[in-house]
Formats: sequence, C-alpha cells, structure tokens
Amino acid sequence: MDRKVTVVGAGFVGATCARRIVEKDLADVVLIDIVEGMPQGKALDLMESAPVEGFEAKIKGTNDYADTAGSDIIVITAGIARKPGMSRDDLQATNVKIVKGIVEEVVKHSPDAILILVTNPLDVISYLAFKTSGFPAHKVIGMAGILDSARFRYFISEELSVAAASVEAMVLGGHGDTMVPLPSYSTVNGIPITQLLPKERIEALNDRTRKGGAEIVGLLKTGSAYYAPSASAVEMVKSILNDENKVLPCCAYLDGQYGLKGVYCGVPVKLSRKGIENIIEVDLTEEEQSALNASSEAVKANIAKLGI
Ligand code: APR
Repeated sequence: MDRKVTVVGAGFVGATCARRIVEKDLADVVLIDIVEGMPQGKALDLMESAPVEGFEAKIKGTNDYADTAGSDIIVITAGIARKPGMSRDDLQATNVKIVKGIVEEVVKHSPDAILILVTNPLDVISYLAFKTSGFPAHKVIGMAGILDSARFRYFISEELSVAAASVEAMVLGGHGDTMVPLPSYSTVNGIPITQLLPKERIEALNDRTRKGGAEIVGLLKTGSAYYAPSASAVEMVKSILNDENKVLPCCAYLDGQYGLKGVYCGVPVKLSRKGIENIIEVDLTEEEQSALNASSEAVKANIAKLGI
C-alpha cells in the first residue's frame, strides 16, 4: 500500500486501532511500543488473521522509531489509562512525560505527518504535542469529540429505540466532566431530539455522556474504554487519508474561534488530506457558550501546569 499509519502504544486502544485500520484496508500500519516483543506479537497475530478476514494491508510491530519513517499519520495512544476513582487529569504528569518523548521521536522520522492524539488528558496532551512537534496546528488533532458524540448518539438511540446510525449528535468542549453536549444540534434523521424527548430525559442523557468514560472504567476496573475510542480515532484516519472532508467534532487548536484563544478544545472541524481544513463555528446559546468557556478554562488551568 502507498499509505502508512504509525500507531504508538500497542495496548488496548492502539492494538484495536491497528486492527481496524488494516481490516478496512486503509493503510499499512506500524505498531510501536516500549515493551519488547509485544507489538511484534500483536502484529504477527493480526497478519495471521489476514487470510481469514481478507485484507491486503500489512502490519509491522516494532520498538524502533526508524520503522515509522515516512508515515502519513501517527496515532499516539501510549500512556497509562484510568482506574476506578481516577479522573483523566490524574494521568497528566505521567502521560505528559511519555508523550513528549514520543512526539520528539516521531517528528524526526515523519516530518510531514499528521498527528492524532488519543492519550489522556486529551486536550492538554494535544497542546503538548502541538508545542513539542513544531507542526502547524491544522496537523495536530486530538480525538475526543467523535467518541463523546458517539456515546451521546448511542444513548439517544437506546432511549428512542431507533437505529444508532440514524442519530447525529454534537458534543463540544474539553474531553472531561466539563464537556458540552449540544441537544439542539443532535438529531434523528434531521429531527432535533428537543422535539422527541422531554427536557429531563435529555439532561439525563447529557449527564451519562459526560460520565461515559468513567462508566466503562467502573465496569472494567483494570483500564478504560477502547472499542469506541479506537473506532473514533480510525474515523479521523479515514477522513484524512481518503480526503473525505467529513465534518467531525475534534480537539483543535483555537485561535479566536468561539472567542477562545491559545487552547485545544473540542469543536466541529472539516477533516481532509491536509488535516483540519477549517474549524466550523456554529451558533451557540448563551448557556452553551458559557459552558464552553468554562470547559476551556478548565483545560487552560491544566495547560498552565505544563510550564511551556
Ligand atoms: N513509548 C511507547 N509506548 C509506551 C510508552 C512509551 N514511552 N509508555 C507506555 N507505552 C505503552 C504501554 O507499554 C502500553 O502498551 O502504551 C500502551 C498503553 O496501553 P494500555 O495500558 O492498554 O492503555 P489503553 O487502554 O490503550 O489507553 C491508552 O489512551 O484512551 C487513552 O486514557 C487512555 O491515556 C490512555 C491511552
């Protein structure tokens, strides 16, 4: 294949990303991890599924960044995951150190790549990768909004007993307790959910969405979600590699959009081969805008701890 995607971190999220990419024949994949043998083992296991699944893409497991050279996209999933009782912010000190080192390595070998960040706390990690890489902001993008919106979409579909694929939803803001679900932009085949559900049910679904990650952590006990996060990251990979111009909520660097500056936050963007083609500004109610402001303030407070 003439497309190459590196996935850094061969744990639950990274290995599932790699699997989804090759099974969709989107690109050849390099799966890299600090643990020796593990990415090689997972890559070989995946390649042995190719005859059965019928994909052509190749996957290589490695511990050597030289193998990542010339990647079109680098998906970074390395780092520790939450355990019950932890917030995403509790991961910051450890994951900042891990991701900083990784970004320094990958940009040496793939200076033209687009970076997709998955490691939490996502908004801060995206900002760190932007600053560390020296890449333009449209090429450093965080994955959170698609996941948060997917959770909201699923909860809406379950509540209304309608097909999940017919539900669209929008969630903006930071990837944490302050995220901002937007019911007025959430629809079932174009019908706003505000016409289909009473206010208190919508608020209950908003709340479950905000706590969606913690709900999974509470059930798994030993780690955090990976099926929906990997599906969401691969949606970004696909839109970029196929130049689809899909409008998707992603964590982007804001430079005045929505009245916010110098911060990474979840907003709708158009994703093409260039990365972020443009950020789309939708009208917000006063209440939604102040929730978005509060969410970006919470992200900024954590960015300040980076000291960069
Ligand atoms: N370089 C490469 N890989 C690393 C490094 C490093 N410096 N440090 C840790 N890793 C690898 C680990 O060896 C492990 O295989 O990152 C992987 C993380 O995998 P898991 O522990 O299974 O965690 P996962 O569930 O995949 O979550 C990873 O994604 O959604 C976020 O919050 C989540 O920050 C977490 C990240």
